[in-house]
Amino acid sequence: MANLMDRFPAIEDLERRAKRRLPHFSWEYLASGTGDESAMHRNRSALLDVELLPQLMKGVIEPDTRTTLFGVEHAAPIGVAPFGMSGLIWPGADQALARTARARGFPHVLSTVATTTPEDVGPLAGDMGWFQLYPPREDALRSDLLDRVEGAAYRTLVITADVPKGSRRERQRKAHIRVPPKITPRLMWQSFTHPAWSMAMVRNGIPRFRTIERYIDGASLTAVAGFVGASLGGSLSFDYVAEVRARWTGNIVVKGILDPADARRSIDVGADAVWVSNHGGRQLEASPAAISCLPAIATEIGDEVPVLFDSGVRSGADVARAISLGADFVFAGRPFYFGLGALGADGAGHAYEILYDGLLNVMHQTGCVRPAELRERTG
Ligand SMILES: Cc1cc2nc3c(=O)[nH]c(=O)nc-3n(C[C@H](O)[C@H](O)[C@H](O)COP(=O)(O)O)c2cc1C
Repeated sequence: MANLMDRFPAIEDLERRAKRRLPHFSWEYLASGTGDESAMHRNRSALLDVELLPQLMKGVIEPDTRTTLFGVEHAAPIGVAPFGMSGLIWPGADQALARTARARGFPHVLSTVATTTPEDVGPLAGDMGWFQLYPPREDALRSDLLDRVEGAAYRTLVITADVPKGSRRERQRKAHIRVPPKITPRLMWQSFTHPAWSMAMVRNGIPRFRTIERYIDGASLTAVAGFVGASLGGSLSFDYVAEVRARWTGNIVVKGILDPADARRSIDVGADAVWVSNHGGRQLEASPAAISCLPAIATEIGDEVPVLFDSGVRSGADVARAISLGADFVFAGRPFYFGLGALGADGAGHAYEILYDGLLNVMHQTGCVRPAELRERTG
């Protein structure tokens, strides 16, 4: 592990290697935002501006990152965010992430539009498994999906609020992304020149939307895009969350919140946690940086329910920054996939290790024994 840390000490090191090892369409899907991508860049620049004031001369301290969320102890307040079409980025991604999450003690969130199913991944993730719901319009479909998720022993449901409609994602259009991949000379060439990805695809099979394909006629990307638009998109309201609340006995998290009023209403209809996020800058280029929205939401919510956070986190210092501004738990999306792209299945654990080790070090540097003490260290 030490050798791996010497070669790839930062998420940016994994990012550079992943860019070389992934086919162009796969990289574009992973790395792009929407529109002029200003929201995606703002996520980074606003995080980098958050300062932590060290408190020194405390003698030997032993920071303890363990964090209990929904009654489950985690090694640190760090988790992996849900990714649709995960197997297109790295074939077998969710299986690798779920196994690592269970072994290391961090939450893994499986997307509705992942390329594997809750039945397959639930047992791998154990009590570290959460499921992300793009809300089906049809009652029967919703009911069937929730039954399956419950049957796979998931206890935490993440309802994604920030996709009222698909966004434009210009770079993805230009990269001709298709699921399942269409065998064209362009694809053959991209695969031939990226053998690590191609071998992973041979081992794991062609990526398909395995969770939802049974509800769709034809599981091509076009069919799924139509299905998502017609059956999953635009259906979400606070009443809808209340209906799911009446049906789902486990925890409910509402993801994609930026406005304190939306956070308040989510709690009013029964959310057990609010997840501050701008979808990694993939929905609205004019959106504020998610970190800029965090303090007002944390103030609005106080200690009523946990506040979760993602969008732009690339280091343990960023995890600490988000906690200092009010997050109880911090998620990263792309960093874990940079890890997979760079190193294959082992990259999931290495990306986690970079974030974890970085958080631990920042706690030492700032004199914090518990993550919550970072709140007192805002510069
Ligand atoms: C390739 C990709 C696919 C994503 N798919 C989903 C999804 O299916 N459901 C969801 O709620 N969020 C999805 N997101 C958003 C992530 O869960 C998360 O909010 C975002 O990646 C955090 O930003 P970061 O990548 O800068 O860490 C996706 C993001 C990316 C980059």
